[in-house]
Amino acid sequence: MRFLGIVFTLIILLFFTSCDHSKNVKTREIVPFDFNWKFSLGDFADAQQPDYSDDEWRNLHVPHDWSIEGDYDSLNPAGIAGAFLPAGVGWYRKSFDYLPEWEGKKVRIAFDGVYLNSTVWINGQELGTRPNGYIGFEYDLTNYLTKAKNIIAVKVDHSQAPSGRWYTGSGIYRHVNLIVTNHTHIAPGGVFVNTPNINEDQANVSIVIEVVGRIDADIQILGKIFSPDGKMVVEKNFGLDMGQSIANVEFTVPSPLLWSPNHPALYSSELQVISEGNVIDEVSTPFGIRSIDISTDGLFVNGDKTILKGICMHHDAGAVGSAVPEDILYDRLKMLKEMGCNAIRTTHNPFAPEFYAMTDSMGFLVMDEAFDGWEKEKAEFDYGLYFEDWWEQDLTSFIKRDRNHPSVILWSIGNEVRGYTDETQKMLVEHVKSLDSTRAITQGRGYYGKWIDIAGFNGHGEFKKGLNDFREDHPVKPIIGTEITHSYQTRGIYRTKTWYRARDFPAPWEIPNSGKFERIRDKIFLVDDLTEEEVFTGIDPTYQSSYDNSLVRMNVRDYWKSTKDKPWFLGAFRWTGFDYLGESFGWPARTMSFGVIDLAGFETDIYYLYQSIWSDEPMVHLLPHWTHPGKEGVQIPVVVYTNCGEAELFLNGKSLGKKEMTDDLQLVWKVPYQNGELKVETKNPQTGETISKAYQTAGYAAGLHFNLNKETIQANGKDVVIAEISVVDDSGVEVPNADNLIHFNVSGPGKIIGVENGDLLDLSPNKSSKRKAFNGKCHVLIQSSGDTGVIKIEASSEDLSAKTIKIEVVL
Ligand code: GAL
Repeated sequence: MRFLGIVFTLIILLFFTSCDHSKNVKTREIVPFDFNWKFSLGDFADAQQPDYSDDEWRNLHVPHDWSIEGDYDSLNPAGIAGAFLPAGVGWYRKSFDYLPEWEGKKVRIAFDGVYLNSTVWINGQELGTRPNGYIGFEYDLTNYLTKAKNIIAVKVDHSQAPSGRWYTGSGIYRHVNLIVTNHTHIAPGGVFVNTPNINEDQANVSIVIEVVGRIDADIQILGKIFSPDGKMVVEKNFGLDMGQSIANVEFTVPSPLLWSPNHPALYSSELQVISEGNVIDEVSTPFGIRSIDISTDGLFVNGDKTILKGICMHHDAGAVGSAVPEDILYDRLKMLKEMGCNAIRTTHNPFAPEFYAMTDSMGFLVMDEAFDGWEKEKAEFDYGLYFEDWWEQDLTSFIKRDRNHPSVILWSIGNEVRGYTDETQKMLVEHVKSLDSTRAITQGRGYYGKWIDIAGFNGHGEFKKGLNDFREDHPVKPIIGTEITHSYQTRGIYRTKTWYRARDFPAPWEIPNSGKFERIRDKIFLVDDLTEEEVFTGIDPTYQSSYDNSLVRMNVRDYWKSTKDKPWFLGAFRWTGFDYLGESFGWPARTMSFGVIDLAGFETDIYYLYQSIWSDEPMVHLLPHWTHPGKEGVQIPVVVYTNCGEAELFLNGKSLGKKEMTDDLQLVWKVPYQNGELKVETKNPQTGETISKAYQTAGYAAGLHFNLNKETIQANGKDVVIAEISVVDDSGVEVPNADNLIHFNVSGPGKIIGVENGDLLDLSPNKSSKRKAFNGKCHVLIQSSGDTGVIKIEASSEDLSAKTIKIEVVL
């Protein structure tokens, strides 16, 4: 926890040093441009004109996603893929004053991502259109600014849906900034830092810098490198290459502190462009000194063999849709870190810039993915419509944007590409290598291409012999699990008999009664039932079991056993870390429960299974909960996950025996149910300290309990508190099956930005002041509105005693 606290402080420091710095020198100013936009859903003739009246439009701040504000409706065209949420067309307008200090400067507007097909105008003048919804882009405003009011208008055309195979969101869902520089300045994406040679005594840091504007012989660059504790370690003066706008220079850093997932040490390079003795531009770039070596012997970070313990992630985050505040993203990454996860695959598109700043400073290894498909669309209106015209520009922006991040260790150029051709793979690989030859390239299920460096295996890598067969035929090709493993789980749901997707609950793309299970029976990892008769009956079949027994081809324990067996395997990314909206089981489900963490960010039991196999922090977990009225005397399988080697189970204080961990990676007791306390105990093998976890049988729902992720936030209009509310009995014990409707009343300088409970069948709106508990709990997200003071949140529910808590909002 302390480590994560330090990491968070580092992120904040990094963020602010880069912003403040540019402000001080006045050579480059980044002006946040998120606040006070006007928005209206629909298409409007002439809305790009400066004198268009937007008085009736809604005021809002971006990031903003209008899809998540809508109703779940089976008729919405995005359908299963888009979680039945609306798409459509929307317009944004923002008026701003010209500032005298912009005189003689270049003013650009930078969008980090607009979904999708945005067209931007300044004062009625069209600046351009960008179909890709996941990549940042900029326009130069300089020649169109007037000295009085200026109007930016943005049309976002998401009228054709589904535009992806998952929930995409719609709108200006990432940050916007103005970038003010001199006319001669460092090009966008024009700095490339890498660390080609590293040893204990020194590291070579190679920097390429590109300057645009009026390039004359007089231009000099001053480069400085700062250590992770902010001390300048080396500086150098150099000129641009003869007749060029580019310089390439090497620095030597003595006794380097290396970047790794466990010690994410970040250096920073500061480059000043100097003309006639004046600093005319300055850019600071965080980077890490680290080596990544990949071969058939595995993945090595600074020479240390590292198994990828990864997850795949989509860019949405439950109730906020795709407009994810930094606080929520950080909270999610922190959960992954605590689970022992060391790697993230950005399926299947570039993420927001702040994601990579966090993975750099928190220490994740990132497989950074450019595309899902290529020329041939995989969803009716997806990027396949634009690929041929746009791939080169989008790929260039993507690689240039992310190539300085030490956390990014792999590029991925696609996923399960339909209509795959060697020509396109070659074209993409060559283009990536021309912009960054320091990283290996892979592809989700891209084992068939000869141009990529690493063979990527998705679900078919879960078949018993899938990876081994490939290895035999391709002994010199490194192999990675780009999507291994797929299993399902719903928080608080248990079934004691094993379920396979193909046998029990075919996915929409599988033909019912096709006999598929029979055909694949010998290839998949069969999992024993926990009991002969199902103990937990009458559960809606859409909900999946949280024992490790609801799977597609392989459960989590088999994934880990077979990964450990293969020294030549780089490791894998699970499908998925979090439940994501869309690609569901079909109406009325809005997700497919692949996440080890649900839509509300609540852990399922499988989270702790991963923790027990991935993390070194001593832990113990047990399941299921211990409130099963009517099951008195029935033998309930109690499962324990621990990385401490053994554990002892107690029912109402009486030992049910000690068990030692085996290759099965779980301990199982069959416990005749009786009310009371079920408790597991183990010992931290290093300190001998007792670690335990216990559940009490709950009585009737009587009240509510808050659990806040923080009690103080800043008055910046951005910070978010995640307030979890559980239904408790009169002794404060959580009631595991409670589904009471809870109302929230918020007063003071904050507002609700979303409610969620993780129930895939709950189609009530996410932008609301009420939510049912699902299996005992839900959450409400509160964002500071910009003023200081105290936010009060009252939670109330019929027949339960209400509860109020306070959040301090400070400067
Ligand atoms: C994979 C695909 C993922 C997701 C997953 C669901 O084939 O690459 O994006 O669709 O299936 O099982």
